[in-house]
Amino acid sequence: MKDAKTVLAVKNLTKIYGQEANQVVALDHVDLELATGEIVMVMGPSGSGKTTLLQLLGGLEPPTEGEIKLRDGEWQQFYREPQISHYRRDTIGFVFQFFNLISALTAEENVALPLILAGESKKKITTEAKELLQLVGLSERAKHLPSELSGGQQQRVAIARALIHKPALLLADEPTGNLDSRTSKDILDLFVKMRDQLGQTILIVTHDPYVATYGDRVVLFRDGRMVDEYRAEQIVGQNRNERSVYIMERLQSISNDPVMSS
Ligand SMILES: Nc1ncnc2c1ncn2[C@@H]1O[C@H](COP(=O)(O)OP(=O)(O)OP(=O)(O)O)[C@@H](O)[C@H]1O
Ligand SMILES: [Mg+2]
Repeated sequence: MKDAKTVLAVKNLTKIYGQEANQVVALDHVDLELATGEIVMVMGPSGSGKTTLLQLLGGLEPPTEGEIKLRDGEWQQFYREPQISHYRRDTIGFVFQFFNLISALTAEENVALPLILAGESKKKITTEAKELLQLVGLSERAKHLPSELSGGQQQRVAIARALIHKPALLLADEPTGNLDSRTSKDILDLFVKMRDQLGQTILIVTHDPYVATYGDRVVLFRDGRMVDEYRAEQIVGQNRNERSVYIMERLQSISNDPVMSS
């Protein structure tokens, strides 16, 4: 993807929690560039900084240090308040493991919520919510409450909601962690469809090497650093099962690497 356009890039992204003796370096000078329409899978042992990366990229937490660049803009210090909340609202979409839908609102209202909060016209809100629901294959469930939907359907609603304001980057932390394997595959196919039809850039944190086979790129974290990365074409295997074994072996090798152990 040499000439692919960068949608978002960060450099020296660092997060240190706590003070002095209790300091934890959760993320340690990470450089990452995301190309338009790329699905990036983030993997690594527990505590390696994956969720921290997502929180910083999503503007949920300010970094201790780091710069950011959007599209062909200039490098600048990572956002702080008040810019960080604009960035979070305008540039980022979030999908979570437990869907996080509002239980008193219908599927369509949940999808529309970001536009309602942004004060868009009623006509625009209704048209776009319907469009998104159709794109995720849930038109006939528009008037249902989350409690009347399956887990996979709820996650489709959550994906539609995350995309309705056309974010530059969709972030997902274990989006299939609460779904069975058949439904997980459907949701992963949906992410691929969003990449193909909308050119959506997507970053997904996962523990599951099978899920990671859906990435255009897999990046491996350890001790807050990006220690390895593989493009899809470098991942060895005839099918997803074989490729997931390859990814699992790479993951085990970075977890056991004695040189890097602290
Ligand atoms: N709010 C916090 N205060 C202090 N330390 C934190 C905080 N959040 C995360 N950490 C520490 O930062 C490091 C990275 O945590 P993080 O949650 O990013 O890991 P992770 O890769 O997502 O792990 P997991 O796979 O278990 O979800 C860990 O050592 C963690 O204990
Ligand atoms: Mg985590």
